[in-house]
Amino acid sequence: MKAIYPGSFDPVTFGHIDVICRSSRIADELIIGVLNNNAKSPLFSLEERVKMLEEVTKDYHNVKVVPFEGLLVDFAKNMKADIVVRGLRAITDFEYELQMAQTNHKLEEEVETIFLTTRLEYSYLSSTIVKEVAAFGGDISQFVPETVRQRIQEKMDERRRV
Ligand code: PNS
Repeated sequence: MKAIYPGSFDPVTFGHIDVICRSSRIADELIIGVLNNNAKSPLFSLEERVKMLEEVTKDYHNVKVVPFEGLLVDFAKNMKADIVVRGLRAITDFEYELQMAQTNHKLEEEVETIFLTTRLEYSYLSSTIVKEVAAFGGDISQFVPETVRQRIQEKMDERRRV
């Protein structure tokens, strides 16, 4: 079974890594699809997000990081994957995730979405929260791997210099 775990990953957090770790045990091959969407004006460029994901998943032998743009279902078809994996944190995620899964299913009947509930310890965590804490000088070492923490720190330092 070939699965896609899509997202913005701006940046990758321990919550994402938990979903990657668990879904890589379910799927034979897991593609992490990194959305190239400049409309969202991400903190990290596509290349930086891909690089961070490659670094933190280097020990997972059935995981590959691939950038994409356009529709997720088209990307899934190109990759010959028919499963999309998404993490569900709290009830607040549910409405948006249901809408996305149903739209994708309408667009491409063969693409199924499966949800993994995030571990309780990461249920509050999001890339947005991590960036906010970092912007105000808070300690984010319990939210992201060290390599990611350093890159966020560099970005924040750059911003302060401008
Ligand atoms: O990490 P995110 O930002 O919650 O991930 C959202 C993502 C990338 C899964 C979603 O925005 C997406 O699939 N975008 C591609 C465009 C698309 O296919 N849209 C139709 C489905 S609603």
